[in-house]
Amino acid sequence: MISSLTLNPIAKAGLTLGVFAFFGVILLASVQWLTKDDIAENIRQRHLVKLHEIIAPDSYDNDLLGSMTELNVTADGIANAVKVYSVLQREKEVAKVFEVTSLEGYSGSISMLVGVNLEDLSLRGVRIISHKETPGLGDKIETAKDDWIFQFTGKSLNNPSVEQWKVQKDGGAFDQFTGATITPRAVVNAVRESLKLAAEGVSSNE
Ligand SMILES: Cc1cc2nc3c(=O)[nH]c(=O)nc-3n(C[C@H](O)[C@H](O)[C@H](O)COP(=O)(O)O)c2cc1C
Repeated sequence: MISSLTLNPIAKAGLTLGVFAFFGVILLASVQWLTKDDIAENIRQRHLVKLHEIIAPDSYDNDLLGSMTELNVTADGIANAVKVYSVLQREKEVAKVFEVTSLEGYSGSISMLVGVNLEDLSLRGVRIISHKETPGLGDKIETAKDDWIFQFTGKSLNNPSVEQWKVQKDGGAFDQFTGATITPRAVVNAVRESLKLAAEGVSSNE
């Protein structure tokens, strides 16, 4: 039986292929298992770098990533799942960062970080984490492409007034992009809803 198998070139090729596939799968699974912690740590570090764009590393003294809690909220145009990071200085909470996802993007969801100072509920800054908007049109929400996102820093629900928290095309204070209103509208709305969550005193313990 064995000798007829070894003599059969098709069976031999099949067996060789099967052995290579088996060891290939084992190798892949091992590499994945061995690197999973490194990959998770890389993702955490990339997230921290993004957070540091709005919360300077020397402006807090707690474990920012470790402070994250998840909330389930109901707010206009944003996904229910919201992550909240607490920014502490000498054990006093001075700011919160909301990680929210707008569901109103042109090409799907837009995830962003919205940092809010708790003293006056003004914005520390806003940064986009991920989006699928059209290059050259909707991607001007990225700092690498345009300064547009920087305009939020220092703004609050009083400045401009809450009624003005819309793009200009909808009668609000925030400019849209030439030929692209949907993306900036989605971001302005999500930032406004985040400010409302902060104003409602949404606690990271809720
Ligand atoms: C191929 C294509 C891609 C587009 N991508 C975007 C986009 O990423 N963001 C956006 O706001 N508008 C995009 N637009 C334009 C929108 O369809 C829309 O015309 C524009 O946002 C103006 O919206 P408004 O009519 O509500 O003012 C795209 C249009 C086309 C044809």
